[in-house]
Amino acid sequence: MAKKSTNSVTSSPAPKQDSGSKIMRPDQIKEILDRHVIGQDEAKKTLAVAVYNHYKRIRHNDEAASKVKIDKSNIILLGGTGCGKTLLVKTIAEALDVPCYIQDCTKLTASGYVGSDVEDCLVGLLRASNYCISKAEMGIVMLDEGDKIAKREAGPSITRDVSGECVQQSLLKIVEGDLVGVPPMGGRKHPEQPLLYVNTKNILFILSGAFVGIEDIIAKRIGKSGARIGFCTTEEKGNSEGILEEVSAQDLRDFGLIPEFAGRFPIVTHVDPLDEKALERILIEPQNSLISQYCELLREDGIALAFSSKALRAIAREALSMGTGARGLRTILEKVMRDIMFDAPRKAKEGCTEILILEDDILRKGFGREYRKAE
Ligand SMILES: Nc1ncnc2c1ncn2[C@@H]1O[C@H](COP(=O)(O)OP(=O)(O)O)[C@@H](O)[C@H]1O
Ligand SMILES: [Mg+2]
Repeated sequence: MAKKSTNSVTSSPAPKQDSGSKIMRPDQIKEILDRHVIGQDEAKKTLAVAVYNHYKRIRHNDEAASKVKIDKSNIILLGGTGCGKTLLVKTIAEALDVPCYIQDCTKLTASGYVGSDVEDCLVGLLRASNYCISKAEMGIVMLDEGDKIAKREAGPSITRDVSGECVQQSLLKIVEGDLVGVPPMGGRKHPEQPLLYVNTKNILFILSGAFVGIEDIIAKRIGKSGARIGFCTTEEKGNSEGILEEVSAQDLRDFGLIPEFAGRFPIVTHVDPLDEKALERILIEPQNSLISQYCELLREDGIALAFSSKALRAIAREALSMGTGARGLRTILEKVMRDIMFDAPRKAKEGCTEILILEDDILRKGFGREYRKAE
């Protein structure tokens, strides 16, 4: 009994380390992320800590002993397309073995309008959990294209902003934590339909999006010199790197998130634009990298596939010029590899055992590649 009265306001070491479920440490989470995602250290660290705290909080609040309840901290993940936002979130969910659902926010509208009700994100999460409610209640919902539900600009409007501000309003309760009635098969709620009730208090919401133009809002607020602002807009995304770090709640509000909504996402982090070097690394380094996938495919035909380092650089360079982040890599490789994959099985039959792709093959897309027969 003496032990029980030792509760104090200072932080004493937590009594237990393991109460059934194991929580992965931030460094362990980051290590897994490093295996799949190139760069983005800032986002990796922030996410690792946030996710660790989230699941620690659940355990803490479940153990009723403590008087201090820890608040939920949802996350905003900013940054350009194809830079790894979805990959980060999916990898974390997989590492922690929790269900994850990615909701495209552009599909959401206020209840009663054409489009999906906001509860649809929970329907998706339930589906991802095989309709196990307790599992879903510990899951992750990624609200993708979250910038698209920003409030519409331009003064008082006569029409309701049903896919912007109204959606944010409807999401408030859900992201904060509430018992939400969900039609199990999705679609509109109607009176006769039995609802499943999902408690969202332990669901982690990650709002992500490109938030195009927020750099200018940040720059204006922190009063960066005109040169810097000009730099950002003319040379575009490539130079927003430093400035996204400075993003504040105020900027998100100026962008069009209503204060109550932004307030429920206290953790803000970002992914950086990928440069040529990063793109080159993405081709080969991650587990399951694009190049290793093509190698695996051709191995099935009995052919060893190789790329010269100049060829890899050329792919990265072209992808960079496409401006779609790492997504461009796949587009380019698909084009280059199509003819090669078309011919490979036949060539293998004729005795070809190795195909080397050179820079020229990338630049001229699918023509003039070099086949080499071993021996
Ligand atoms: N930093 C990165 N490291 C490794 N792969 C990446 C990275 N960024 C993007 N990719 C790859 O590019 C594709 C698009 O990435 P995704 O995470 O969907 O981008 P977005 O930021 O638009 O959500 C995926 O196939 C992903 O594997
Ligand atoms: Mg995405």
